[in-house]
Amino acid sequence: GAGLGAVLGLGAAVGIPAIRAAIAPDRSAAASAAAFGGESLPCHGPHQAGVITEPTTHVRFVAYRLKPTTDRAAIERLFRILTDDVEGLTSGDSPLADPEPELAARPARLTITVGVGPDLVDRVGPGKRPEWLAPLPKFSKDRLAGTHDGGDLLFLIQADDQLAVAHAARMLQRDTRSFADRHWEQQGFRTARGSEKSGTTMRNLMGQVDGTVNPHPEDEDFAPLVWLGEADPSSEAGSQAWLAGGTALVLRRIRMELDTWDQIDRPGREQTIGRRLSDGAPLTGGTEHSPMDFDAKDEQGLPVIPSFAHSRRAHSEDPNERIFRRAVNYDEGGESGLLFACYQRNPLRQFVPIQQRLDELDLLNEWITHTGSAVFAILPGFSRGEILGQSLLS
Ligand code: HEM
Repeated sequence: GAGLGAVLGLGAAVGIPAIRAAIAPDRSAAASAAAFGGESLPCHGPHQAGVITEPTTHVRFVAYRLKPTTDRAAIERLFRILTDDVEGLTSGDSPLADPEPELAARPARLTITVGVGPDLVDRVGPGKRPEWLAPLPKFSKDRLAGTHDGGDLLFLIQADDQLAVAHAARMLQRDTRSFADRHWEQQGFRTARGSEKSGTTMRNLMGQVDGTVNPHPEDEDFAPLVWLGEADPSSEAGSQAWLAGGTALVLRRIRMELDTWDQIDRPGREQTIGRRLSDGAPLTGGTEHSPMDFDAKDEQGLPVIPSFAHSRRAHSEDPNERIFRRAVNYDEGGESGLLFACYQRNPLRQFVPIQQRLDELDLLNEWITHTGSAVFAILPGFSRGEILGQSLLS
């Protein structure tokens, strides 16, 4: 459209030597080779591990469809087995009858987060399904391929070592296969642990710093945005009291057209987001975490952060309409993109209005396509002696 033309015509590309200097590796930093495979994270608590846990290098989402014969009693048996698997695998002790305990011994901060889809909840008790636990409304630019949509059961497996992820996925598959069939699997990654200082915001495959403006688990308003509560006055109370301590996951598979993206000059790519590629700072100045000045104008009187910029369009004026983003890259079979995962209390009030705005206008749409969509209820956390999903079954 006209926006694209404006961007393409903008300014000359920044000199390559300047860019090289800005991103030169820090060779003075001593290469540290501390082994981290033995690190394990607790799986018990009010929330499942893996939602606010410090991001890991490898991330795998595996969705299942329940077999027609898997009734409420079978779901309870499955949850008992999964509870043992999660406790064993994440601690490094390996579950009962693990034929490869050596592979489980180095969990590398493994977390396994379990989510449930609409059909699973309906099989236990239809009255327990919150309104948002359903396929999302269709957006005009969606091109869902039918290969990565929905699911009844989700395992989100994260670790700093792909060996730990693969072994956990295999053990979970072994224990799940008599109850459910694998529906789809999506593998994502971030910058490898140790490649950057920990706490550095990740980069996506378009080269952007991705994840800067995000609610923080330490913030006072994080829980009301993300964690479901016993008494959530804003939603249909009752039907989701069993989810207290859980959260709603929206997972979108978003393909990137990197070959055409590469043809845009650097200012054009920066205007598309409204932030600098070098350090993720707003085009209105400062550093990565400086606030964006949406009112600032350039010499021609045009907004410095264009009206079509992704950050401007995604930004919510309503503080309740925010999401906790935790995206990862994917790159497989000649296709690259983002596994866009976000957590919230209610996707219909949080993800959907944001995505509606982006669907309407966002220059980024020239190079991205949503091809997969799923919503899961992430089960509440559990303590030792409890089973995952206990509140759903009781
Ligand atoms: C901000 C990239 C899809 C919601 C950003 C930023 C980048 C980015 C680089 C600026 C840095 C930051 O604050 O993290 C992308 C890419 C996408 C994508 C490459 C697809 C491939 C989405 C989707 C949503 C979304 C589907 C939600 C519906 C947001 C929000 C912000 C943001 C809420 C922060 C806005 C603010 O400043 O308040 N995104 N994004 N993004 N994005 Fe995306």
